[in-house]
Amino acid sequence: MKVKIFGAGSIGNHLTQASRRKGWDVTVVDIDPAALKRMKEEIYPKRYGSWDPQIKLMTPEEAPKGGFDVIMVGTPPPARLKVAMEALEGKPRVLQLEKPYFVPMLDESLKRENQEFMEKAKSLGIKVVVGYEYALGESAKKALDFISDKGFGKIRVLEVAVREEWSGALAAHPWLKGPADTYLGFWQKGGGALSEHSHAIHYWQHFASHLGLGTIDEVSASMRMVKDALLDYDELTYLNIKTDQSFTGTIVQDVVTDPPYLSLFIQREKAFVKWLRRSVPGKGNVETITYGKKDENGWLVTTEDIPVARPDDFYPEINHIADLLEEKVKIEDSPIRLEMGAHVTAVVTAAHESRLNNGKFIKVTKYAGYR
Ligand SMILES: NC(=O)c1ccc[n+]([C@@H]2O[C@H](COP(=O)([O-])OP(=O)(O)OC[C@H]3O[C@@H](n4cnc5c(N)ncnc54)[C@H](O)[C@@H]3O)[C@@H](O)[C@H]2O)c1
Repeated sequence: MKVKIFGAGSIGNHLTQASRRKGWDVTVVDIDPAALKRMKEEIYPKRYGSWDPQIKLMTPEEAPKGGFDVIMVGTPPPARLKVAMEALEGKPRVLQLEKPYFVPMLDESLKRENQEFMEKAKSLGIKVVVGYEYALGESAKKALDFISDKGFGKIRVLEVAVREEWSGALAAHPWLKGPADTYLGFWQKGGGALSEHSHAIHYWQHFASHLGLGTIDEVSASMRMVKDALLDYDELTYLNIKTDQSFTGTIVQDVVTDPPYLSLFIQREKAFVKWLRRSVPGKGNVETITYGKKDENGWLVTTEDIPVARPDDFYPEINHIADLLEEKVKIEDSPIRLEMGAHVTAVVTAAHESRLNNGKFIKVTKYAGYR
């Protein structure tokens, strides 16, 4: 299998390593020759032990356009759809775009760019996915399997939080001094808590879709902004959401909580599930699932710990792409299909509109192709 990955930064390295683990042939392309050098000499050997000489490193001019089964776009969000449009010309069978799918689309020209990309991808019949890998992890599947049992009664609560101080993202970029050096410090460039930690919106929607709770349709946002001469981003965002089936829920995302954690909580009448991901000293990342079941004797609560090394987050995504290539999974059934990723950006867009309108509930636009 031949793969081309745009972006030799933090995510480009993760996707390269996961693809090489799968035995795929990888070409990494970056507009910045210093980034290619840094990948080979610093990031890759430090993270994974040694450089892999099979990986090809090229500037866009040197790299062939076509002949790849899979193309992945791991650039910062503002460049995403421009690079993705060019990638479609290469006619890959699967196109993977990193999260967030795009910048908030408050501007007409950005909405048009999104529309054109979605229509072109659809007309060429290329399978497009967006890199919300947590939904593909083993623990997410276990939590969903458990709580899907209709015998547990009505769903009362669905809440998700991704609370992680900047240092996590910046530690993966030792060459940056702070968020002002990159898109991270600017909400309009796809930075800030809401876009950077949009895994939470995707996770919420993923569980809501599977539990028959509908699609996020309206959002009200409360954000704490950081705005000065150098920066303009939300550091703490609370979202109240309503689905098209009148289910209400909450999402919290921030770049201030330290130590960081990701969490999901679902309450049914006779069961609950809590999923918590955090870093445990000496053990690395651990995902803990707490299962609760209620019967005539009261609550029975059990827990399970699943350790997840960071590179293992991306391997299930590569396996999922392989399943799409081999048609073991249909794109319509993929938890990370384009429509899910684009809807997350639509929620982010509506949330910023809500912030600019004193927290008013704003309708979320459903973009072309969304089902
Ligand atoms: N799924 C995840 O868990 C996860 C993890 C980390 C980052 N990300 C996402 O990946 C994206 C990139 O983040 P990062 O931390 O790797 O950034 P980064 O700054 O480390 O790397 C981005 C690279 O893209 C290159 N680039 C920019 N424009 C390009 C173009 N037109 N063609 C080729 N290369 C180009 C830059 O030179 C840079 O080397 C962000 O959207 C981020 O949110 C996702």
